[in-house]
Amino acid sequence: MDAKATKVAEGIHRLSANVKNILFEGMWPVPNGVAMNSYIVQGEKLAIIDGVCGWDGVPETLLAQFEQLNLDVNDLDYVIINHMEPDHSGWLDAFRKVRKDFTIYTSERAKPLLEAFYRITDNIKLVKSGDTLDLGAGRVLAFEEIPNVHWPETMATFDTKSGTLFPCDAFGSFGAVSDEAPYDDTLQEEQIEFFEREMERYYSNIVTAFSVATQKAVQKVKGLDVKIIAPGHGIVWRREPDRVIRSYTRLAGYAKGPARAEVAVLWGSMYGMTELAVQPVIEAIESQGVKTRVHRVPESHIGYVLDSVLQSSGVVLGMPTYEYKMFPPMAAVLDEIGKKKIMNRKAFRFGSYGWSGGAQKELDEINERNKMKWDFLEPVEFNGRPTEHDIELARQRGVELARAVKQWTLGDAAS
Ligand code: FEO
Repeated sequence: MDAKATKVAEGIHRLSANVKNILFEGMWPVPNGVAMNSYIVQGEKLAIIDGVCGWDGVPETLLAQFEQLNLDVNDLDYVIINHMEPDHSGWLDAFRKVRKDFTIYTSERAKPLLEAFYRITDNIKLVKSGDTLDLGAGRVLAFEEIPNVHWPETMATFDTKSGTLFPCDAFGSFGAVSDEAPYDDTLQEEQIEFFEREMERYYSNIVTAFSVATQKAVQKVKGLDVKIIAPGHGIVWRREPDRVIRSYTRLAGYAKGPARAEVAVLWGSMYGMTELAVQPVIEAIESQGVKTRVHRVPESHIGYVLDSVLQSSGVVLGMPTYEYKMFPPMAAVLDEIGKKKIMNRKAFRFGSYGWSGGAQKELDEINERNKMKWDFLEPVEFNGRPTEHDIELARQRGVELARAVKQWTLGDAAS
């Protein structure tokens, strides 16, 4: 696994490992891979901020990058752990094999996790917001707790000399990063936009449930004189750190809605009866100038469904009743959307039933249990195959939904 250390700013280097062919967190597809970033910060003392996962070959990649910088891991004075999730802390086991005594700087809530994951109980210096670590040569690191972005113990580290913020998961994205161009100022606009799309899926999969915490973290970050944002995943924002701050502000806001003036159409069908109404509904929505993002369930992975639902102010659920309840894959998807706290959507359900209905009852339960507060139009249910009248009714609801979405997102400009 080749990887190259690159210079972020005077005295700061980015070390990184790209991981591909995995499901991130054991469940999220990352067809474009994901980068895990670590940073070496040099004053008179030497610190490493964040690390990489512990999988075969990955910690070794990190350690090899020390040599590229003519550094020895034994030169490290401090290990700063912003976040304990093993994609950033997993390398500690490998590190301990080459270096026995080192001091960890981390937050109070990380302490029990250090013991639980790595049996580390000694040489831990606990820090909180406002605490600093002087590396000498005018380099002072300041710590800022940003709990729940993405675990409760998470903090950010700020290099006051260069204005570089190391926020770990916050401001991160999916997508493997080329060692040749890991910075926004070394990428073409279309490459930056690629990482922004990867960021949207990353946010919806990993961070959405913590959107309120993210908004608080963003406010804290805005109080710092940030010139560079160097996250634990994705590219480093050096030319325009405000751009990624704006993206995260927008995505965090989407969780409560409104999001974009778009509609996510999630549908599933057993024998093609519910499917007969899908295209008419899509056409009705689009006839109002509203874009749709369409996913067949369960064929489309929940990772992509979450991305579309987070970014859409409207959601269509088209599925049959199954054994007195919702089509099970749709129930599972909807429950996950609820657990991710994607709230306040304009919504519409349609679908076929055979000997009995019942989908609505379960839908209401999921909506209630997760406090989703989705605002549903009158559903359109049909017994077996939809009639022309059923299709026309579904079409009308599609138009209604699109108009409601436009009204909500665009206000007076929609009329
Ligand atoms: Fe990148 Fe929450 O770990």
